[in-house]
Amino acid sequence: MTAFNLIKRIGLIKRIGAVLCLLGICVTAQASDYRLDPARVKGPDACGECHENSVSAWKLSHHATTFKDMPRSDGAREIADKMGIKRIKSESDCLTCHFTASENEGSTKPIAGISCESCHGAGADWIDIHSDFGGKDVKAEDEDPAHKLKRYADSEAAGMIRPSNIYKLAENCFGCHTVPNEELVNKGGDVAGSKFGLVRWTQGEVRHNIWYSDDNTEASLERRRMLYVVGKLLDLEYALRGVSKATVKADYALSMAKRAKKATAFIKKISESIDTPELAEVLGVAASVKLKLNNEAALVEAADSISVVSSKFAGSYDGSTFSGLDALLPTPDKYNGSVFEG
Ligand code: HEC
Ligand code: HEC
Ligand code: HEC
Ligand code: HEC
Repeated sequence: MTAFNLIKRIGLIKRIGAVLCLLGICVTAQASDYRLDPARVKGPDACGECHENSVSAWKLSHHATTFKDMPRSDGAREIADKMGIKRIKSESDCLTCHFTASENEGSTKPIAGISCESCHGAGADWIDIHSDFGGKDVKAEDEDPAHKLKRYADSEAAGMIRPSNIYKLAENCFGCHTVPNEELVNKGGDVAGSKFGLVRWTQGEVRHNIWYSDDNTEASLERRRMLYVVGKLLDLEYALRGVSKATVKADYALSMAKRAKKATAFIKKISESIDTPELAEVLGVAASVKLKLNNEAALVEAADSISVVSSKFAGSYDGSTFSGLDALLPTPDKYNGSVFEG
């Protein structure tokens, strides 16, 4: 399908949804309400055909349980009432961050909470490519090295977000966890951004290092150093994006601005422990932009340039030279939630 056809199709789904809503039956969620295109989503069961253990780990995490638990909770009803939302699962604003939907025979419906594809990319176009080592009978250990390189490149080109790309992988977390929705925070009272740390929040209940190791071990020390720095850089970038959307001086704007200042302070501290030109560049950008209301163009421009530098940072280092950071890394007792043990 061409991009144009896709846009037309999403437009059509939206119009059908709108007409139904006028008739008082808002049953169909709209494709554009979701972070992932429902037509490209395969669903966690499809991944589970091969990644059974990852699915078992995921099922115990809040990302999976939110699907059933959130709409029934008193907190959700309270937020929804304030926002004027009747059906949490089929209307609105809650869908983008709490649910994944897929499209089946023209109808789009939520199938899970935050799922494999929320972090690894909608799978329709890469699910077959990423697990094909060069034909049905070729095993992973016999894969031709050139084939492997091409398989990784083709998977990424088809939308797969691989764990090796820490920046892209973690970008998803911040897109939801900074809660960049002014009305939802000010009027609805949803959390004004999670107290999120990339190491703490990936290594607890979310951890599923089960394919390449049997015992769900934590990320290596070198990788945790990288996660730590990239997490702070993304926190700053997404806080600036958040502030850029702020229009009134209330909880949302204040929390986002605070978030940006805090992330900047962390990056300063990191830059005293490891010496890289990228961090100095990011601090320069942060110092040059004003955290104020109705300053969208300048804040987005700053966030965009931080994005470029951070992504380059993530691709240029492997953490092996960053031992200066070790005193800052969170210890396992700080990890968020229980680790899946299989
Ligand atoms: C037909 C079996 C199969 C299915 C279905 C499958 N995978 Fe995989 N997956 C594999 C194999 C085999 C590997 C190991 C490939 C490698 O080492 O490069 C893998 C590796 C991965 C990796 C790490 C690879 C890397 O490039 O670093 C991720 C992430 C992943 N799969 C996610 C998913 C998700 C998400 C889904 C569902 C949308 C899925 N897989 C469905 C077989 C499968
Ligand atoms: C922009 C992303 C985003 C949107 C949109 C969103 N939420 Fe949330 N919500 C979050 C995040 C992130 C958390 C987790 C906060 C934490 O644990 O730090 C959360 C937590 C919650 C919680 C507390 C945890 C729980 O499951 O009981 C409730 C209730 C909730 N949201 C309801 C809603 C409702 C109702 C809507 C729609 C009106 C909504 N949210 C829309 C991001 C969002
Ligand atoms: C909240 C985001 C998120 C969700 C949801 C998620 N992953 Fe991951 N996945 C990650 C992160 C982050 C890593 C790298 C972990 C690390 O560095 O410790 C990863 C790593 C992986 C790997 C490679 C590591 C290994 O040894 O297995 C595979 C395979 C994988 N995920 C598959 C899946 C499947 C299948 C699902 C759904 C059942 C899933 N993921 C759900 C974020 C996520
Ligand atoms: C599509 C939006 C989305 C993405 C992407 C996402 N999350 Fe979440 N996450 C949520 C929401 C919403 C909740 C709250 C669920 C609930 O409790 O109902 C949550 C809950 C969590 C929790 C449990 C929080 C608690 O209060 O105990 C952890 C840990 C977590 N997320 C880590 C991550 C990490 C790490 C990533 C990225 C690798 C990530 N999330 C990506 C939306 C998202």
